[in-house]
Amino acid sequence: MGKLSGKYAVVTGGSQGIGEAIVKRFVEDGAAGVAILGRNLDVAQNTAKLIDPTGEKVIAIRCDVSDEQQVADAVETILEKFKTIDILVNNAGVTNDSMFHKMTKEQWDAVININLYGVYHMCKYIVPVMREKNYGRIVNITSISAFGNIGQANYSATKGAIISFTNTLAMEGGPKNITANCIAPGFIRTEMYNAVPDEIIAKHIKRVPLKRLGEPSEIAGAASFMASDDASFVSGQCLVISGGGSI
Ligand code: CAA
Repeated sequence: MGKLSGKYAVVTGGSQGIGEAIVKRFVEDGAAGVAILGRNLDVAQNTAKLIDPTGEKVIAIRCDVSDEQQVADAVETILEKFKTIDILVNNAGVTNDSMFHKMTKEQWDAVININLYGVYHMCKYIVPVMREKNYGRIVNITSISAFGNIGQANYSATKGAIISFTNTLAMEGGPKNITANCIAPGFIRTEMYNAVPDEIIAKHIKRVPLKRLGEPSEIAGAASFMASDDASFVSGQCLVISGGGSI
């Protein structure tokens, strides 16, 4: 029996990168069902099939988390299929990096709408399900950029807000047996990180005691722990996984 045995999970942005690694790890740890929410259905379906060729455990749903109606519809579809939701991983996020003095309102809004409104929409529709069943595990993927990062005023604002939001969810959810925690990855080898110029990558790695980028699987193990009953008394925490480095 895996530590997520019998549990049903939702992972936003689960088609690739850290989200994909989390879906894979949840299945390995015995989850009864995992829903991947992604903006591109083909990519989400492809990932679901790779991880679960039977198609029984992992389902793919097209959902842009910045759109409240799409989130409402996706949650309805998950509840039809799984009947319940035990675990919510808010992982979907985008960057649109620029020095703040050059950042347009479009760049600001694009990141706020997905990274922050996305988490708000998901919680708006799933927290009531968890309150009703008196059980829930919320894992929010923030970032070490929450503490500030050159070129990421928009992104870091969302990631900082996610930490405060999570702490409040933890306080309000506790009496209903709902835990809420954050993971703050450092620099992880994903498609998102590909946009960073080589000379900046070198600067980043220099500041990491382990002297390398992290791998998505190194975030997934912690997400599974936080989603499991091994973490039943862990709430309102933010675990930085950055090879010991800070921004
Ligand atoms: N450390 C030190 N200096 C930095 C820096 C850093 N991390 N980032 C930028 N700078 C410097 C540049 O070297 C440059 O210095 P000079 O003026 O002396 O040449 C200055 O800041 C900015 O110069 P420009 O205005 O010419 O920069 P630009 O407009 O061409 O590009 C940028 C700016 C888009 C922000 C680019 O520097 C960049 O992409 N930086 C990387 C941003 C980053 O770290 N993103 C993280 C992505 S991974 C992620 O987001 C996942 C996560 O959760 C951590």
